[in-house]
Amino acid sequence: MTVAVRYYSRGGNTKKVAEAMAKAVGVKALPITEPLTEDVDILLFGTAPYAFDIDDEVKSFLRCITVSVGKVVNFSTAAVLKSTRKYVEKALQGKGIPLAEEEFSCRGAFTVLHKGHPDEADLKAASDFARNICS
Ligand SMILES: Cc1cc2nc3c(=O)[nH]c(=O)nc-3n(C[C@H](O)[C@H](O)[C@H](O)COP(=O)(O)O)c2cc1C
Repeated sequence: MTVAVRYYSRGGNTKKVAEAMAKAVGVKALPITEPLTEDVDILLFGTAPYAFDIDDEVKSFLRCITVSVGKVVNFSTAAVLKSTRKYVEKALQGKGIPLAEEEFSCRGAFTVLHKGHPDEADLKAASDFARNICS
């Protein structure tokens, strides 16, 4: 099974989760400035929400996927929202790329909220999730 990890992270929270997941499944976590160049079975894709949306750069990355992707597995860190799923789903509309029901999300520190997150327990949960979904 081929797996790729791409993430968008302004402050480093989502990057930490991406790196934990990538390590767990033996691939490299790359930022979305690195387009997919080969077909993959699973794209582990992560971003945080910013002002109740995802960044335009993230939307553009998803809309511009040209390789074959078996499914996208969404992950996110956020201060308030439970998930970025609905935004990712919208950006993938019309692409014919399935978005897995399963997803991973955890809290990400933001100003005075959730200090220290994602913490070790969050990263362990992210690793376990990735290992499980890619097995
Ligand atoms: C400009 C800005 C806007 C944000 N808006 C939201 C939001 O609408 N909903 C939410 O749950 N978190 C929001 N957050 C919190 C981030 O999603 C959270 O801190 C996340 O972990 C940041 O991930 P990053 O470090 O990978 O960028 C916002 C953070 C910033 C900096």
